[in-house]
Amino acid sequence: MNPVNVGLLGLGTVGSGTVNVLARNAQEITRRAGRGIVVTHAAARNLDAPRNCSTEGIKLTTVPMDVVNDPDVDVVVELIGGYDLSRELVMQAINNGKHVVTANKALIALHGNEIFKAAQDKGVMVAFEAAVAGGIPIIKAIREGLAGNRIEWLAGIINGTGNFILTEMRDKGRDFADVLAEAQKLGYAEADPTFDVEGIDAAHKLTILASIAFGIPLQFESTYTEGISHITREDVDYAGQLGYRIKHLGLSRRTAEGIELRVHPTLIPQRRLIANVDGVMNAILVKGDAVGPTLYYGAGAGADPTASAVVADLVDVVRAMTADPENRVPHLAFQPDALSDTPILPMEQVETAYYLRLQANDKPGVLADITRILGEAGISIEAILQKEAALDEISVPIILLTHRIREKQMNAAIAQIEALDSIHGEVVRIRLETLDAD
Ligand code: HSE
Repeated sequence: MNPVNVGLLGLGTVGSGTVNVLARNAQEITRRAGRGIVVTHAAARNLDAPRNCSTEGIKLTTVPMDVVNDPDVDVVVELIGGYDLSRELVMQAINNGKHVVTANKALIALHGNEIFKAAQDKGVMVAFEAAVAGGIPIIKAIREGLAGNRIEWLAGIINGTGNFILTEMRDKGRDFADVLAEAQKLGYAEADPTFDVEGIDAAHKLTILASIAFGIPLQFESTYTEGISHITREDVDYAGQLGYRIKHLGLSRRTAEGIELRVHPTLIPQRRLIANVDGVMNAILVKGDAVGPTLYYGAGAGADPTASAVVADLVDVVRAMTADPENRVPHLAFQPDALSDTPILPMEQVETAYYLRLQANDKPGVLADITRILGEAGISIEAILQKEAALDEISVPIILLTHRIREKQMNAAIAQIEALDSIHGEVVRIRLETLDAD
């Protein structure tokens, strides 16, 4: 049988990785897919740029639309990122009746509902395994492997750059900016690295995970997003002294009132496996009612790991090309007409535990004022730590861990604490999740 022709949009880190993996594992891939998979046409911004792959036998262009409109291309692989041009290219590919594979989480999180609808109308597939957690087959695991479950919650370290930064800060005391520069050099970071450190990249990925876990439309605009750029070495150290690690988590939970959808730095007990996922690695915990908690771990970024997911999608597409479109795995795991309109909860309605750090005058009655405010707000204290004052300071850091409480109550209590004369500056608040199996 003739090989399947692939048109590649983008020959950067992931594009080169895809060319290399397809060439290196060509025999195995053909044995799996039943047909060869060959890149025949590729678009790159600069044809003279140095490449990490061979482009022999590939027609090259700087005009991506030429690849999309090439009648000999069967599957378009979109690896250029961004929202606007990539949306135009993917929609045109679908209109041309071509299947699409993409690693573009921003595109899927923002325009996935429209793209999947167009793909369904045209009877083509849009595969996006590489969009979430690099090489970890988490889309397949949730969409197919856990299809018998009612998913209760999921929590993941889904940005490799952010995890790399937090790990290096904790283990080596390195500076934030210095580690970020290294992540950029290694090809982990987004084109705009604020997407990594401010949680936008993780929010794109969480939006996708929540949709396939709970059968809801993609709702990036409703995802609460907080980054790690304000995390200090002190907080990392105090969390460690209390038995916790700070991780940048994406968390989505089904509750009676709606679905939580949030990305923020989070204290996790250091005995949890996920608290020990370090460097650029990603991990996602998924709790299903039948299977219980499951954990998926692997490289979340980088050329070959991401290419592993792109090529797996290509194999899936090739296998399903001749199948009746009605009988393919639905893009968002649930049948398109069976998606639910369960609301996404506003952050004030979310319930979680907290780590609080405040700078207080070292004098009688200060702690009593703080505990009175928390007590009156119904907030129960789990642990308390007071550190000695630095030589040039008259105030001392106080660190509190609380039991679970609604964010609305915590916001009100923090405002009252900050208004006390004995408190200096703002209260630092980091949410805490125990991630228990139940
Ligand atoms: N910038 C992303 C990360 C790349 O660091 O995880 C993979 O999506």
